[in-house]
Amino acid sequence: MSRQSPLVFVMAAGLGTRMKSDLAKVLHKVAGRPMIHWVVGAARAAGAKKVVAILGHQSDTVKAALDASFGAGAVEVAIQSEQRGTGHAVQCALPAVEKESDDRIVVILTGDAPLLGSERIAELADACAASPAGMALLSTVPDRDMPYGRLVRENGKLVKIVEHPDATPEQRQIKDTNAGFYAIKLGHLRRDLATLKANNAKGELYLTDLVAHAAERGGATAIDAPFTEVTGVNDRVDLSAVDAHARRRINEAWMRAGVTMVDPASTYIDADVGPIGQDCWLAPNVCLRGKTSLGAGVRVDVGCVITDVSVADNVNLKPYSIMTESALGARAQIGPFSHCRPGSRIDEDAHLGNFVETKKTHMMAGSKANHLAYLGDASIGARANIGAGTITCNYDGVGKYQTTIEAGAFIGSDSQLVAPVTVGRDAYVGSGTTVTKDVPRGALALTRVKQVNVEGWADRFREAQAKRKKTPNGD
Ligand code: UD1
Ligand code: CA
Repeated sequence: MSRQSPLVFVMAAGLGTRMKSDLAKVLHKVAGRPMIHWVVGAARAAGAKKVVAILGHQSDTVKAALDASFGAGAVEVAIQSEQRGTGHAVQCALPAVEKESDDRIVVILTGDAPLLGSERIAELADACAASPAGMALLSTVPDRDMPYGRLVRENGKLVKIVEHPDATPEQRQIKDTNAGFYAIKLGHLRRDLATLKANNAKGELYLTDLVAHAAERGGATAIDAPFTEVTGVNDRVDLSAVDAHARRRINEAWMRAGVTMVDPASTYIDADVGPIGQDCWLAPNVCLRGKTSLGAGVRVDVGCVITDVSVADNVNLKPYSIMTESALGARAQIGPFSHCRPGSRIDEDAHLGNFVETKKTHMMAGSKANHLAYLGDASIGARANIGAGTITCNYDGVGKYQTTIEAGAFIGSDSQLVAPVTVGRDAYVGSGTTVTKDVPRGALALTRVKQVNVEGWADRFREAQAKRKKTPNGD
């Protein structure tokens, strides 16, 4: 069948009262991505010619989120300032397609049902194209009691949808319900929307009344879809169920692509993460967030939280390492308990050990900081060795300053580098040194006080203590 690219409306003007939230419902996230982004993304993947979001509550915030993700104005916005029902919502979007011809197909989606896939949207548009009535919709049989519109059929023909509040007890027994997604020829939409009346239990303009109009043309086509795919989010219980389902789908896709997950149920991968290379190994309680990507053969052990990080091949992330907005080079060894804050670049074969924190720091190839260090605003040359307890003093309460440690330098344990300062190539900094001046190439920097040994002092001290204890009241 030759497909035309549909016009898509996304209804998202409702308040979402049951979320009990200051955030617009459609901006609540499922697998790290706002619900409405899932819907817009699926519409685009289905070849939508134009996507119009119908917004009301917090329309500015929602529009800003759409612009940020899809490009300014890529998703058109129609404002429904007063929520007078789904039929009214679609009326508000008609001016956005004013110039389109009557035979174009309009797909109408809701912004709070993120799991609907692009194939289903295309199937819906195709069914509309094939339907003599010029209308198709998705039906579903919910797995629990839902206050959905019921599909009323007579002799097999779909004659109308009765909304839950308007339905008789007999009609409420009908298993087939309206999932809330439609495809309809624009000409029918224009004509039929104009006739809607609010003569119903909610006093709203029901979009679902269009089905009765389609019955006069032979009846709309209903496509049955699994409830899990069409389920909408009304409260945070629904949100968690939809989120769990989305994550399961994401994890299964990565496992099929060659990623091992010890416990998929406790592996949290956001929708925008990827690629993840073959033979990656993910332990329980790993969170991959934002735009993180992993090369091939990466090991991510228990409890790592990786956000917006690009990880090259064969990196080994040991347990409980927290990485944000950073880049890890091939074969880097990280953790346990390492913390890369934004702007960290850890090059190939570099090591970061336990309780090492970096920020805006570039650790070049083969450099090592294996224990207990703070490295901020620093450039650390290839093969340099950073001893335990090293601190770059990058902040004086006002400005931030740069520390440069050149290739092959050796920073002894418990040293402070007071920035701005440079330690030259292959130089040594003795343990416990406070470096305030640049260290020339190949030099040794030392600021320690000279060691004094007092012969026999410890023995004399203990003897004196013992005598004190024997005398009365000497405690
Ligand atoms: C709607 C359907 C119902 C279907 C159910 C599936 C109607 C009349 N009923 O009911 O048959 O079983 O979805 O979930 O359509 N919206 C607006 N503006 C409005 C009203 C709603 O943009 O004035 C948006 C909402 O933000 C939401 C969507 O439309 O995204 C559906 O609205 P909602 O009030 O949730 O409809 P239901 O009562 O659930
Ligand atoms: Ca709803």
